[in-house]
Amino acid sequence: MWAFSSPMISYGDNALEYILQIRGNKAFVVADKNIVKLGLLKLVTDQLDAAGKKWEVFDDVEPEPSLITIKKGGAAVAKFQPDWVIGVGGGSVMDAAKAIILLLARPDLEPDALSPAETFNFRDKARLMAIPTTSGTGSEATWAIVLTDTVLGRKLGLGTPECMPDVAILDPVMVMGMPPMITADTGMDVLCHAIEGYTSAWGTTITDGPGLIATRRVFQYLVKAYKDGSDLEARREMMYAATLGGMSFGNSMAGLGHSLGHALGALFHVPHGRAVGLFLPYTMEYLVNGSEETTKKYAEMARFCLGASGNDKACAKALIAAVRKLAKTLAQPLSVKDCGIDKAKYDKAIPDLVDRALNETMTITVTRIPESEDLSKMYAYVYEGKPIDF
Ligand SMILES: [Fe+2]
Repeated sequence: MWAFSSPMISYGDNALEYILQIRGNKAFVVADKNIVKLGLLKLVTDQLDAAGKKWEVFDDVEPEPSLITIKKGGAAVAKFQPDWVIGVGGGSVMDAAKAIILLLARPDLEPDALSPAETFNFRDKARLMAIPTTSGTGSEATWAIVLTDTVLGRKLGLGTPECMPDVAILDPVMVMGMPPMITADTGMDVLCHAIEGYTSAWGTTITDGPGLIATRRVFQYLVKAYKDGSDLEARREMMYAATLGGMSFGNSMAGLGHSLGHALGALFHVPHGRAVGLFLPYTMEYLVNGSEETTKKYAEMARFCLGASGNDKACAKALIAAVRKLAKTLAQPLSVKDCGIDKAKYDKAIPDLVDRALNETMTITVTRIPESEDLSKMYAYVYEGKPIDF
């Protein structure tokens, strides 16, 4: 049995006005200092004021939120006892909001125990809303939570299907201010979610739609949004693409670009979207070299998104070339060397990178599952920017 889950989505110009319709009296708003500084939080609290709701803000969320921060948020939410928890921000903030609402229901738990092994029933107390201010993670449409254990220096993939947001609000006014580099980094993450979700071994007819449309939108609009941040249409379409990307991989699974990229990000502090986007074309080559099933799906994508023609292999290669061309236009690194990472340090880290990649679920939800030798070879090739020929 499979299940497709998604929030109720309010989208388009003035989508924030959905807040005027919500029931309940109190909202606990999770954000970060930057969202406050940019005036984005006020756009949300103005709606809460207009709706006559009481609200409290917790704006201590840092990038890659720590267990300590979540615990602090858990204590604050327990005191306030809201009817809604609203995450306003990028992936880190939305993930923090998901963790905090789980703690509202289960204050007895430590944040690192917020997993599917527990039951929460938080909707007896409050509902969850996500309002993204970047177009990337798709966290508004997934139940994943990534937290950082700062004591042990590791990232924790947590969450439970219960913490899919009830409502996601996609209002383009919230993403208009993203600087070009963040637009590019987060946009590459969207592309990765869409392509990997579409070709995941866990993908189905139901998850194919969002992945396909999100990919087409990224090719149509990401460069426009990057070059002219005030292009409302491009911003809006990239925002929709990000949510569709989340629906795609969140209901199937991401793939090898994420496995290899996560490991690089953890050891060399490369931003998530940039790291996974860097590995995407290489891992696509690896799949084309050994999986007819995925080659066929890449070809479908290339025909639909790029108007490619020819046999499956030629179309799949056209898709990979388009990913590389897009990354180049966005001034993204095309090799690990381009990230400015020292070769000796990188070579020494390859066994650790491979080990980490092997421990990612995404490594086994692709149609060609690599052994450690292949991963090790792939890491070496990507340093130099050498296409994968095995
Ligand atoms: Fe991602």
